[in-house]
Amino acid sequence: MLSVSNLSVQFGKRVLFDEVNITFTSGNCYGIIGANGAGKSTFLRILSGKEDPTSGKVHLETGKRMSVLEQNHNAYDDFPVLETVVRGNKELFAIKQQIDKLYEDYSDENAEKIGELQVTFEEMNGWNAESDAAALLSNLGISENVHYNLMKDLDGKQKVRVLLAQALFGSPDVLIMDEPTNDLDYETITWLENFIANYDNCVIVVSHDRHFLDAVCTHISDIDFGKINSYSGNYTFWYESSQLAARQRSQQNKKAEEKKKELQEFIMRFSANVAKSKQATSRKKMIEKLNIDEIKPSSRRYPAIIFEREREAGDQILNVSNLSSTLDGEILFKGVDINLVKGDKVVVYSKDSRATTAFYEILNGNQKADSGAYQWGITTTQSYLPLDNSGFFQEKLPLVDWLRQWAKTEEEREEVYLRGFLGKMIFSGEEALKTSDVLSGGEKVRCMLSRMMMMRANVLMLDEPTNHLDLESITAFNNSLKNFKGTVLLTTHDHEFAQTVGNRVIELTPNGIIDRYMTFDEYMDDTNLKELRKKMYTVEV
Ligand SMILES: Nc1ncnc2c1ncn2[C@@H]1O[C@H](COP(=O)(O)OP(=O)(O)OP(=O)(O)O)[C@@H](O)[C@H]1O
Ligand SMILES: [Mg+2]
Repeated sequence: MLSVSNLSVQFGKRVLFDEVNITFTSGNCYGIIGANGAGKSTFLRILSGKEDPTSGKVHLETGKRMSVLEQNHNAYDDFPVLETVVRGNKELFAIKQQIDKLYEDYSDENAEKIGELQVTFEEMNGWNAESDAAALLSNLGISENVHYNLMKDLDGKQKVRVLLAQALFGSPDVLIMDEPTNDLDYETITWLENFIANYDNCVIVVSHDRHFLDAVCTHISDIDFGKINSYSGNYTFWYESSQLAARQRSQQNKKAEEKKKELQEFIMRFSANVAKSKQATSRKKMIEKLNIDEIKPSSRRYPAIIFEREREAGDQILNVSNLSSTLDGEILFKGVDINLVKGDKVVVYSKDSRATTAFYEILNGNQKADSGAYQWGITTTQSYLPLDNSGFFQEKLPLVDWLRQWAKTEEEREEVYLRGFLGKMIFSGEEALKTSDVLSGGEKVRCMLSRMMMMRANVLMLDEPTNHLDLESITAFNNSLKNFKGTVLLTTHDHEFAQTVGNRVIELTPNGIIDRYMTFDEYMDDTNLKELRKKMYTVEV
């Protein structure tokens, strides 16, 4: 279906891919994994023809169509929803635009051109494009009353559904997705998992979400050491077999025979477990030919994420009174009263991700509330990891200079200090000199975390902090937050993060807040709260 031959990619001295050969077959779902910066997005861009490799070729079977779900979920913000979907079929959309343009400047000559274009348009089933797109959207749970709204007025999970409709428009033979679960809530992720598991064509998906990879993949393609190695099986199988392979490699005196037996037993145990799970009933018979020969130990590294505080805050952290926010007349939250004290690690939750994001933007002075006020304690200092970090990467600065913007002392401004700092965050050697505009999604977040570490604030605000990060970074980040002695305000779809960091949950609703000192699981499982939560989103008080 889709194959890559002798692909090499190099940026300066850094070799991302070295003579890679790989084939993707119809009916399979390939999970592309690798550390932040390994080259996953670059590889997908090359597959889809958006970027050229240094050398090598990509070959798509003739007559087959490929489509892509963007990593940047805001890319179509200024377009209407329905049009965004139709734009998924580029050839068709281009013809439609040409026709519209010729009509604007109508003449005999143009009428002839219009006629010709309309024939092609009709052959491509163009007249039904809008109704097909509308049907697709409705199937994906995007109701008709928003089909003509602009994308920027939708919340993150709706946007992803529209972009998915765009990618699926015209049933592509190869569907390519870069981190589709970012910005999604638990419910929508489950929906997407089912969708992909039942999609018959070839799917190639990059993700850092283990659960998602396990639910959808028939193959894992690991990017490491400049190569891409594909293994049949899901993520857990890849992970456990690579651990086993690494263990075996260090057991020098164990006989080859014994090792082989151990591997076979492992595969049998794993296959038996999979056979019991619901995956076995799917069309994907992934357990038939598991292979773990040649699994290589990985080069993944843990960044040293450590949040220190310049000074300890006093007792009063934050006071919020009667705060409310609306978006185009719709109430995001209303009547929010909060008093934060020392030691609070709050999971800020809402069914509507636009509400939590607006809340942080207001507390950071980037946006105005519709009513109400907030006051930070005088001993507090804040640092903020926003959902959208693109504003920090507009300028093209070498990383050392980028980070220097937040240096407070002469020592911190020094090259040696900054490079040491970046080294701990896995930008070692030459990597510290690359410019801020070429960073991968996860590398940008790693930079934002370095910035926060330099700021040494005693209040941290984090809006979906795990988005884009690889598992090693998430683990390091999670541990550092557990140990952090200051105040944390956190919104995350990562269950483990919410459960292990938070000691208080505040839910923002259009009818005020629910505020409880308990763990996230206790909060979500409480039957009385379930009732209350339902009411808070529906009843107009
Ligand atoms: N023009 C360029 N010059 C130098 N380095 C570049 C350039 N473009 C990309 N890179 C580097 O190539 C590496 C791969 O980037 P890519 O976005 O493909 O990573 P990724 O695997 O998708 O990571 P993530 O998991 O964070 O999304 C990164 O280290 C990036 O900084
Ligand atoms: Mg990427």
